[in-house]
Amino acid sequence: MCGIVGYIGPKPALEPLLTGLGRLEYRGYDSAGVALVTERGLSISRSVGPVGKLRRRVEPSALGDDARATCGIAHTRWATHGAPSERNAHPHTDATGRIALVHNGIIENHRSIRQYLAKQGVTFVSETDTEALAQLIGFLYEDGAGTGPDALLVAVCGALREVQGTFGIAVACVDTPGRLIAARRGSPLLVGIGDGEHLIASDGAAIVEHTSRVVYLHDNEVVTVDGGGLGASTIDAVPLRKKVERLELSLEQIERGGYPHYMLKEIHEQPDALRNTLRGRIDPAGAAVNLGGLERVDCSPADLRRVVIAGCGTAWHAAMVGKYLIEEIARVPTDVEYSSELRYRNAIVEDGTVALFISQSGETADTIAAMNEMRAKGAAVLGVVNVVGSTLARETQAGVYLHAGPEIGVASTKAFTAQVAVLALISVRLGRRRHLSAERCAELLQGLRSSPRAIESVLRLDGAIRELVSRHIDRQNWLYLGRGVNFPVALEGALKLKELSYIHAEGMPAAEMKHGPLALIDRGMPVVFVAPRDRTTDKVIANIEEVRSRGGHVIAIATEGDHELASAADEAVFVPPVLPALSPLVTTVPLQLIAYHAAVLRGHDVDRPRNLAKSVTVE
Ligand code: AGP
Repeated sequence: MCGIVGYIGPKPALEPLLTGLGRLEYRGYDSAGVALVTERGLSISRSVGPVGKLRRRVEPSALGDDARATCGIAHTRWATHGAPSERNAHPHTDATGRIALVHNGIIENHRSIRQYLAKQGVTFVSETDTEALAQLIGFLYEDGAGTGPDALLVAVCGALREVQGTFGIAVACVDTPGRLIAARRGSPLLVGIGDGEHLIASDGAAIVEHTSRVVYLHDNEVVTVDGGGLGASTIDAVPLRKKVERLELSLEQIERGGYPHYMLKEIHEQPDALRNTLRGRIDPAGAAVNLGGLERVDCSPADLRRVVIAGCGTAWHAAMVGKYLIEEIARVPTDVEYSSELRYRNAIVEDGTVALFISQSGETADTIAAMNEMRAKGAAVLGVVNVVGSTLARETQAGVYLHAGPEIGVASTKAFTAQVAVLALISVRLGRRRHLSAERCAELLQGLRSSPRAIESVLRLDGAIRELVSRHIDRQNWLYLGRGVNFPVALEGALKLKELSYIHAEGMPAAEMKHGPLALIDRGMPVVFVAPRDRTTDKVIANIEEVRSRGGHVIAIATEGDHELASAADEAVFVPPVLPALSPLVTTVPLQLIAYHAAVLRGHDVDRPRNLAKSVTVE
């Protein structure tokens, strides 16, 4: 997934473009580039690597007068077609070099576009799908698709109508130096409206310091901005009136707040993030749940037959926790699906099916596609999303925002615990319309309300956990085990370690060890048991003994005071006692810290792990 920024206004464009790219680097950072519209033509600079490298390349001493240009577009890339290289970095231009384009998404029919244009004598300089779109726009523009001031707009819309796939684009042209064009289908894009200036961006983080007045583009919409007015239409030239909305993001939220990494900040933000997630949703008497976002699509309990929960990665782990919660608390059959599987599986959807789509970014391509598939099959589709105004948030029939605040670190942390909390709220809400007693409801809601404080006590173990990790930092294989609702927590712990420290880790149900994986155990191998006290503890202790008797080194995430289990392990991290159903809210936190410290001790880029992006908006 890539980051796009555009600027047009009275100020030199370069600084807002580079600063904006810096705030989008979490989206993708294998190369970056900028195009400035100057009297001499397009001034284009590209570099492989982080935005900082591009910044050095466009020092005013290197750009001269070009640095004063007041119109430009910029891009930070996560490669999908063509290796990370200067040649493949955006912006890309048309054959004449008069039109520059930056793009986020995938042009699925880029080969046929290339073949058509090659027959017209167009030569290509990169391996990217994006260049095919840039060249097609240029070809239509030169071919006189339109005349007068809207010639470029006509060419852009003509090209976009030929595109199969997804795009978020910004386009600049030397013939219209006072104007930028932006369009989207499937890749997020918004326009900031400042004082005599406009900014185009993939994400509000890139523009929040300039304005909080924004216009969100929807699929197949195109806007033209010139620092003063904003024109909008569909790519079929149907005029649109766009609503100006308020960007719910503050610069302070985006800054690291004194932490060395966004991820550590977000781990430590979890108590407050959860308080925000729960705020206003538990009635004062603590015996009911208010989820306004669901009022619009109440599927009456009598009609509700099944819940399907879908997501990717960490969101899928939260979905797995949701299954345990909904089935235990609301007694509704619940299935969990990988979004990437559900979108192609031709699932059977009976009447009375509600589908929940879990996504921090609200832009994960597979989850959006799965949602569209389930809606086409008649399911009620709801979103559990963090980013306000994101595609999933806007295109589901209803949903529940996490209100966890921006999550910048590529590894998802506070979003996971917020997703679990929202799924618990949904379970209680559903349960109270079915079999859940008022007493059990009050107990669960009290457990949710006290979870932020429980997490605060776990966070105080940060230093001890760093010490623990340092003792095993040379180990290249870890196992994470759990039973019941702790099994998805084990999966999440393994994913965190893998994606941050590049150490191989695997999560599985604790009882599965005997069916093969026990053969993996060798001397000193770290095996983490997620084992808060519950009705399976005796079985877990037996599993711990199986591992230790074969030389494994057992690290138990145990309930404070559970000395029986702790004494069975080699070492233990104690978490406060919470209701077993809600234990993921506290047992996940030590696993996040283990992964964080392993990455730091191994010298990796914690906030931007190799090969990854914060939101996978491509297949
Ligand atoms: C989690 O740490 C990863 N960054 C990744 O698995 C992520 O959870 C997944 O890509 C889903 O993203 P979403 O929640 O924005 O849809």
